[in-house]
Amino acid sequence: MATINDHYLKLKAGYLFPEIARRVNAFAEANPGAKIIKLGIGDVTEPLPEACRTAMIKAVEEMGDRATFKGYGPEQGYGWLRDKIAQEDFQSRGCEVDASEIFISDGSKCDSGNILDIFGKSNKIAVTDPVYPVYVDTNVMAGHTGDLNDQGEYQGLVYLPITAENQFTAALPTEKVDLIYLCFPNNPTGATATQDYLKTWVDYARANGSIILFDAAYEAYITNSTLPHSIYEIEGARDCAIEFRSFSKNAGFTGTRCALTVVPKTLSAKAADGADVELWKLWNRRQSTKFNGVSYIVQRGAEAVYSEAGQTQVRRLIDFYMENARMIREQLTAAGLAVYGGVNAPYVWVKTPAGLSSWDFFDKLLQVCHVVGTPGSGFGAAGEGYFRISAFNSRENVEAAMERITEKFKV
Ligand code: MLT
Repeated sequence: MATINDHYLKLKAGYLFPEIARRVNAFAEANPGAKIIKLGIGDVTEPLPEACRTAMIKAVEEMGDRATFKGYGPEQGYGWLRDKIAQEDFQSRGCEVDASEIFISDGSKCDSGNILDIFGKSNKIAVTDPVYPVYVDTNVMAGHTGDLNDQGEYQGLVYLPITAENQFTAALPTEKVDLIYLCFPNNPTGATATQDYLKTWVDYARANGSIILFDAAYEAYITNSTLPHSIYEIEGARDCAIEFRSFSKNAGFTGTRCALTVVPKTLSAKAADGADVELWKLWNRRQSTKFNGVSYIVQRGAEAVYSEAGQTQVRRLIDFYMENARMIREQLTAAGLAVYGGVNAPYVWVKTPAGLSSWDFFDKLLQVCHVVGTPGSGFGAAGEGYFRISAFNSRENVEAAMERITEKFKV
């Protein structure tokens, strides 16, 4: 008889976003006339930049001609895309990242889960609370945790609370941890990290032989020019950090799929026999074995992000969503709600009114306003009493949603 990976049985019933979709679909079925506005999952709504589309159309034509047809590409991604990323995203900001350290993939969500393949089972793992649920769930699946306790925490994980009191930036752990997930600009709270703050983490990681898994999927939304976009802007980060980036949120590739992970060649961790092993070699081996690369067409689309036209069009997209974020922030604040984030991130983190629980506010918002957000408690126990509103939608929908919410929830 075949057996299963029992660790899956420890997981909460459903992944957060499908669970939200299930509730919304049930409501929509029961209320066919309701015009539901979705500000829940951080999924883009605006069309792909023209520069990306043009590049992809050209690539499709190349695939139709034997002379330019492409079969399997390099598992790590095409050199021309890796070179562009190294120059434009890293070297231009003074980060010492070489093209060979960049691995092109089909998503940061996948990579931040898959990266666990190259780490041992006995690592002590730290996550913030609230946190992007993928970091937690993939560790549960990999058997790195115990069961879920009554507080909604998996035993064995080190939870670092992020609250309004600490500006949603976690304090260093009081115990020694081996793997640390950090996400800035932060999903879900929209908080940011300064150079000095990240330096404290880099110093901690180097002193303790820890690895930081740094999720920079939202770096393009940084508006404050003093904030770092990459962990490699911090001295010493090449010795202790892996960075995840994505084309999903800047160029609207959520459905097109392209991302990247940086694994510096200077990064190592211990083998069971105590030897230092280069993580780049392991990730390269993992990708070469389990992954066949992102399609040529999509990589050409991603490359176009770095063209002059691409840069202008991507900037326009980000400005568009950030204007939505500004409207959400200002209107909810004017309605008397306590609001965080949304200045350097496309997410606004709201304290639920009248002491409502996150899910109660979710249900109320859906039933009364026909607006969908994401319950803070879905991101972790410390997210209880908060609610995330995404700025990814059309202007018309954001305006309508804000009108409905402020009318019903003015405090
Ligand atoms: C979110 O809503 O948190 C994001 O869409 C998640 C993701 O990018 O996978």
